[in-house]
Amino acid sequence: MPTKIPAHTLPLSRSAQSIAPFRVMKILGEAKALEAQGRDIIHMEIGEPDFPSLACVNEAAFAATQQGLTHYTPTLGLPALRQKLAEFYGHFYQAHVDAARILITPGSSSALQLTLTALLNPGDKVLMGDPTYPCNRQFVELLHGQVVSVALNESCNYQLTLAQLQRHWQADIKAVMVATPANPTGTLIEQSELFAMAQFLAERNTWLIVDEIYQGLVYGRPAESVLAHAGLPDNVIVINSFSKFFGMTGWRLGWCIAPLALMPILDRLAQNLYLAAPTPSQYGALRVLEADALAELEQRRQIFERRRQVLIESMQQAGFKLKTQPQGAFYLYWDVSDYTDNAEALAVDILEKTGVALTPGTDFGKQEGHHHLRLAYTTEEKRLIEAVQRIKTFLSALP
Ligand SMILES: Cc1ncc(COP(=O)(O)O)c(C=O)c1O
Repeated sequence: MPTKIPAHTLPLSRSAQSIAPFRVMKILGEAKALEAQGRDIIHMEIGEPDFPSLACVNEAAFAATQQGLTHYTPTLGLPALRQKLAEFYGHFYQAHVDAARILITPGSSSALQLTLTALLNPGDKVLMGDPTYPCNRQFVELLHGQVVSVALNESCNYQLTLAQLQRHWQADIKAVMVATPANPTGTLIEQSELFAMAQFLAERNTWLIVDEIYQGLVYGRPAESVLAHAGLPDNVIVINSFSKFFGMTGWRLGWCIAPLALMPILDRLAQNLYLAAPTPSQYGALRVLEADALAELEQRRQIFERRRQVLIESMQQAGFKLKTQPQGAFYLYWDVSDYTDNAEALAVDILEKTGVALTPGTDFGKQEGHHHLRLAYTTEEKRLIEAVQRIKTFLSALP
């Protein structure tokens, strides 16, 4: 008889054991449990569009599988998709991007991990704002890097600035990570600022990783890419995804655009880590970049724009103070310090008492996360209005 060893006594890696949970999943689990009991839950916790992927995308992917196109693609991605993306940048962003610089990945999550794996040695420092997309901190720590966090607030529109880079500069910083529009705040970095940051970092031999995953979901102004700058230095790596604007979260497809010199390394890493991005998804993505599909997505963007307006107005009418107004993505980061020092407990209370599911800021911010809730306007306008009413009634009744 083989000896039976209880699995929990077997050794694990320190980095795996220290990885932080994504608290939104806890809220989501509780929200689903309440729904199963028959409660009416308004979901504003999840960071994905509520729309399904476009019918033409579903059909194109299915047609590809019917034609037997179900094998691995080249590791860098389908050549036709890389080429089409390059043309997409030229057409919509006036950015000249060589298709040879594009790597298709399983979600931008893989693009982020791959890029950081290519750049970091143990102990290397990566500077990022706080609040930030939480997985970035975890990716760096899994690679035994060190996160240098810079506290952000409304005075800098919750985005890193050149002045902050200058103030917080340390000689051993290897890379800086930004996202525009950002999660959880929906705020943007002005392109002139981003360009100046890229130059400052290039002079210090440091990488700038620009996450443009919410590109396309920008309101009241045109969507932009850092790649449009003539003379952009070669230290910039752009991350993007078919998840958000393109509404394809479950297809797990993203991309990164890196300097040519980095491509062979990214290729080798990807060959080892996941071989290739999902093939049917890549055929679906080829279809989503056609003009008619993009026109449908533009209509959805306009729906998000209206929802954003409705949510901001409802919050203001309810007497809630907003320190910043999102210019993109589909989030509003709400300072709840007037009501609590414990956003996690407040999120649970709001869910249990009102049936509105929100994400505590502690997922995103180590400094001020306990004073924030993230509201995702990924549900219909009338439900957003109702959610604000329910929250107002609940908060007004607090002692
Ligand atoms: C800023 C940011 N980057 C990256 C991701 C990862 O998305 P995906 O792997 O679906 O492309 C997310 C997901 O919410 C995000 O908000």
